[in-house]
Amino acid sequence: MTDRSGIFITFEGGEGVGKSTQIRRLADRLRRAGHDVLVTREPGGSPGAEAVRHVLLSGAAETFGVRMEAILFAAARNDHVEEVIRPALETGAVVLCDRFVDSSRVYQGVTGNLEPGFIEALQRIATDGVMPDLTFILDLPAEAGLARARRRGGSDAPDRFEKEEVDTHEKRRQAYLDIAAAEPRRCRVINAGRPEDEIAEEIFTLVETATEASVAAEQVS
Ligand SMILES: Nc1ncnc2c1ncn2[C@@H]1O[C@H](COP(=O)(O)OP(=O)(O)O)[C@@H](O)[C@H]1O
Ligand SMILES: [Mg+2]
Repeated sequence: MTDRSGIFITFEGGEGVGKSTQIRRLADRLRRAGHDVLVTREPGGSPGAEAVRHVLLSGAAETFGVRMEAILFAAARNDHVEEVIRPALETGAVVLCDRFVDSSRVYQGVTGNLEPGFIEALQRIATDGVMPDLTFILDLPAEAGLARARRRGGSDAPDRFEKEEVDTHEKRRQAYLDIAAAEPRRCRVINAGRPEDEIAEEIFTLVETATEASVAAEQVS
């Protein structure tokens, strides 16, 4: 493990729950408070990973099976971690990432029917010890999230994941809640069915608490 002084925060949840919206708002607010903030996303976030992103979201990888797809996600994640996330954390930045390991657990693991052991082995390699300090799981009924994503959609055709059935999305929602229940120290479930401002306020307060705790821990060590 490297010496980390930054804080790593991930945003998770289904399509249209408000991840991008809340990341933007949190980044603005943290910057105004004087923090150095890096906003990034998966799949992608580094040149190597962005190259793989297109293969994943176009559905080209799906043709070769869910294992192949999961391995490509992991390859992209490892590049992203080593080239972007870890270096930023080492400079003390707050890193906000749109999707990370929990998306693999939920999308390829639960709804892709990959064995948990296979997924976890990939995550160990992909993250190489860089796990989020805090994960916001934005929770919203699948139907509502999909409706939002469609409204946002504009001219973009739905990607490979947006096209799937509502019950698949609902299964993912439950899988996220299961992760949150299993890892309560890292994960916070956020009711995403409320007004944007209210959600932003709750998230900012939780992040402030976490950054204060991490500063206090550094002063002790
Ligand atoms: N709390 C909210 N209430 C209503 N609409 C929202 C809320 N948060 C985001 N939206 C809208 O829903 C759509 C999807 O939000 P977005 O942040 O892109 O979701 P995600 O990144 O999780 O897919 C956007 O059009 C956004 O403006
Ligand atoms: Mg988004």
